[in-house]
Amino acid sequence: MKIIYLDYNATTSIDSRVLEEMLPYLKKHFGNPSSSHIYGKAAKEGVEKARKRVAGLLGCNVSEIVFTSGGSEANNMALKGVVETLSTKSTKGNHIITSQIEHPAILNPCRYLERKGFRITYLPVDQYGMVDPDDVKKVITSKTILITIMHANNEVGTIQPVAEIGKIARKYGILFHSDAAQTVGKVETKVKKLKVDLLSIAGHKFYAPKGVGVLYVRKGLKLEPLIHGAGHESGRRAGTENVASIVGLGKAAEIAGRDINKYRDHVFNMREKLYWGIMDKVDGIKLNGHPTERLPNTLNLSFEGIDSEELLCETKEIALSTGSACHAGHKEPSKVLLAMGIDRKLALGTLRFSLGKYNTKEDIRQAVSLLSKRIKNK
Ligand SMILES: Cc1ncc(COP(=O)(O)O)c(C=O)c1O
Repeated sequence: MKIIYLDYNATTSIDSRVLEEMLPYLKKHFGNPSSSHIYGKAAKEGVEKARKRVAGLLGCNVSEIVFTSGGSEANNMALKGVVETLSTKSTKGNHIITSQIEHPAILNPCRYLERKGFRITYLPVDQYGMVDPDDVKKVITSKTILITIMHANNEVGTIQPVAEIGKIARKYGILFHSDAAQTVGKVETKVKKLKVDLLSIAGHKFYAPKGVGVLYVRKGLKLEPLIHGAGHESGRRAGTENVASIVGLGKAAEIAGRDINKYRDHVFNMREKLYWGIMDKVDGIKLNGHPTERLPNTLNLSFEGIDSEELLCETKEIALSTGSACHAGHKEPSKVLLAMGIDRKLALGTLRFSLGKYNTKEDIRQAVSLLSKRIKNK
């Protein structure tokens, strides 16, 4: 049985061109990039080529790229690094602004910092999951040291007005971080346009391997490292580099930059086919997320009178996510959907479809047919 994969916001498979580029670094070029002999040099060259490619995708300088173990580490490094760095300076501030719909890789470091005495403002969102830049402005105080707002939400795909928020942050002299794990490779992510000081990337969301990511750190910004040790990554992140995965991330960045329009058109067309296909056959559907300011691959739908966990259990032919989490046998609706004002019952009837470059028209046709039949039989 072929399983239709519609969960690309959770993770992607590795692009075969990425894998091909990685393989020599797992065996032939096994050297430590810090070694000065030929093996070390070959590995270092791989890492630096990747750095150049990622910098190209983000439109920044190579010195502004720090390789990490993924999006979670990049987010932790940004938040804890800013806090550690600024709280040792005379301008002590203890206030951070974020939103209610961030990924746990932001919300949980925020909660940790709250326990350490920092004050966090979790901004609300509107019915489309959008943060209002005016709300950001209203909560800034003389103690605010950091604003962190995600570029696009992983569940509903709403793209935040990051550049506008960045402008406000600059005006007030406050550092601005954005979690771009869901946008890199899907929409343009040039750091200058976005007006960010810090930006997080996760390789496995755009056809690179899992366990590798990047934190963009604007030139001149010195952050206390999360991992102390030897002087890797110009003293910003210790640990012998994950060379093969970094090489893979670099290749994925090159492909993403080159093919971004092709990717967008493909996933957008597939997504619209899926949406209208289901809408045509099933009543009582609510589209969650912004109608236009949304990731081209993401479709989040609530179905009236449906338990989406149950539906997925019966639909093993399709791999996708629900809008809920199961805690100790008790179903909890998605906090993102609740923050958008969607009622609990409807939230528990939600499916997140996230498409990728390997989906075909036939995948969509089958998914529409399978799901609409199962839903009608409920
Ligand atoms: C928005 C967002 N931020 C951060 C992460 C975490 O990235 P990683 O799995 O590389 O740690 C994810 C992955 O699910 C995500 O969707």
